[in-house]
Amino acid sequence: MHAYYSKSEFQAFVRSDAARSGRVGLVPTMGALHEGHLSLVRQAQAECDLVAVSIFVNPLQFAAGEDLDKYPRTMESDFAKLGAAGVDAVLVPRVEDIYPADFQTVVSNDTLSGILCGASRAGHFNGVLTVVLKLLNIAKCQRAYFGRKDFQQLTLVKRMVKDLDVDCEIVGCPTVRDPSGLALSSRNTYLSPAERESSVKLSRTLREIDARVAAGERDVARLMEVARPLADDPLIAPEYLEIRSPGLETRYEDELELPAVALIAARVGATRLIDNIELAPQ
Ligand code: PAJ
Repeated sequence: MHAYYSKSEFQAFVRSDAARSGRVGLVPTMGALHEGHLSLVRQAQAECDLVAVSIFVNPLQFAAGEDLDKYPRTMESDFAKLGAAGVDAVLVPRVEDIYPADFQTVVSNDTLSGILCGASRAGHFNGVLTVVLKLLNIAKCQRAYFGRKDFQQLTLVKRMVKDLDVDCEIVGCPTVRDPSGLALSSRNTYLSPAERESSVKLSRTLREIDARVAAGERDVARLMEVARPLADDPLIAPEYLEIRSPGLETRYEDELELPAVALIAARVGATRLIDNIELAPQ
């Protein structure tokens, strides 16, 4: 595994014969790597000749007052995990390399970036889209791997690639969970033991919705009743629970149609967590 600390150094990998003659897969991350990230790496390795991982805590996607400064940075153990996984290249650029002082242009989506997580995180998704487009351009990869855990992010990235004719296939990978059902997240490290216990209620709520839909329930108001344990928990401040069409354009308020996706966000203590479940016809 070779580590590159700037986009110009990284061109040695991008322009190598192996990268030019094979299929390159990119896994963009912000580090603090866990099994969720590593599952993306493994899927990329199964489908590509070479796999590169980027580690970049992207300031553009953090709103003022969010956790940019305290976002976990665990470079040493990240490198050990990627080395053990057999990744070919790691790109760890500096902020000034990605956003030089004269940086001006951003990608924005005014339709999907204001709903769900975008409603409370102004500018977040435009920051994500901008850095993802830059990383795809820098890596010249044929495929890029994203987790379905961040369903809105995956949807927006797919939309950008389609709308802007970016020549890269976006691959969505399944959510990795701990045995309790909690979706793995770098931010889980913020949780106290009591908060971690409460966090399980997010995935439990989604599974309950899935079970009721599988049993034939289509009434959205009745489905929303399963969220009561969340609202009753003093450690949890629910932000949203919505059921939407797979492309997120339609929010079901009365009766849902399948396929659909149920998405949830809540603050558990000071930590904001998200999760979702895809609801398929039987
Ligand atoms: P980060 O939160 O580090 O996540 C990197 C990738 O790992 C994302 O595609 C995310 O969906 C995926 N991932 C995280 N937890 C997962 C889990 N439990 N199961 C499966 N996949 C999981 O998402 C970002 O970074 C950034 O926004 C980024 C796309 C890198 C742009 O800065």
